[in-house]
Amino acid sequence: MEEYVSPFPEIIGQNEKMREVFKIMEKVVNTDSTILIRGETGTGKELVAKALHYHGKRRNGPFIAVNCSALTETLLESELFGHVRGSFTGAVAEKKGLFEVADKGTFFLDEVSEISPGLQAKLLRVLQEGTIKKVGGTQDIPVDVRIIAATNRDLEKEVDMGRFRRDLYYRLTVIEITLPPLRERKDDIPLLAEHFLKIYAEKI
Ligand SMILES: Nc1ncnc2c1ncn2[C@@H]1O[C@H](COP(=O)(O)OP(=O)(O)OP(=O)(O)O)[C@@H](O)[C@H]1O
Ligand SMILES: [Mg+2]
Repeated sequence: MEEYVSPFPEIIGQNEKMREVFKIMEKVVNTDSTILIRGETGTGKELVAKALHYHGKRRNGPFIAVNCSALTETLLESELFGHVRGSFTGAVAEKKGLFEVADKGTFFLDEVSEISPGLQAKLLRVLQEGTIKKVGGTQDIPVDVRIIAATNRDLEKEVDMGRFRRDLYYRLTVIEITLPPLRERKDDIPLLAEHFLKIYAEKI
């Protein structure tokens, strides 16, 4: 069998479907296009997001990952956008949001289907205008971030059910990368086994 050299060596995959994934990744790695990564749990969505960051032109900037299902709406909003002093009880000082922290880098929004309608509107603003507003703030602050989102849900269905904004859906799906589950690329299993064996052997 002819040897295939992956352009992203940290991602194991020789299977035809993975080669297709790498082809799309190569096309977009040095652009600022928004990307949506789809795939079941454990298919490597975060690994792909990181590879796009560390092989791309933003590699010297930060890679910030946020799991949108992990926090309540209020906490997530203040985490992402920051807040001005006195905007709510406990907001004793002005705080930078992660979008500002991620300036010149990549922002990875994991489980993006889980964000609330209010935050969907704010995220759309980031994608359309490239600006954020802090909680309690009035100023539009420009941010220079590349957004990569991931989901293991059927986002179209979420749109049809009125749970996810259609305009945001279109903005996020400019480039889509769908990661195949292992059962669709069984030929990669021995390679992955070898890969993990090496990692764990080094740890001993
Ligand atoms: N193709 C691959 N090559 C090497 N390691 C992989 C590959 N796919 C997944 N992994 C490893 O498997 C683990 C799970 O991957 P990752 O966290 O990227 O998946 P995920 O799609 O984000 O999953 P989840 O939906 O659970 O968040 C990680 O340790 C990752 O490094
Ligand atoms: Mg993940």
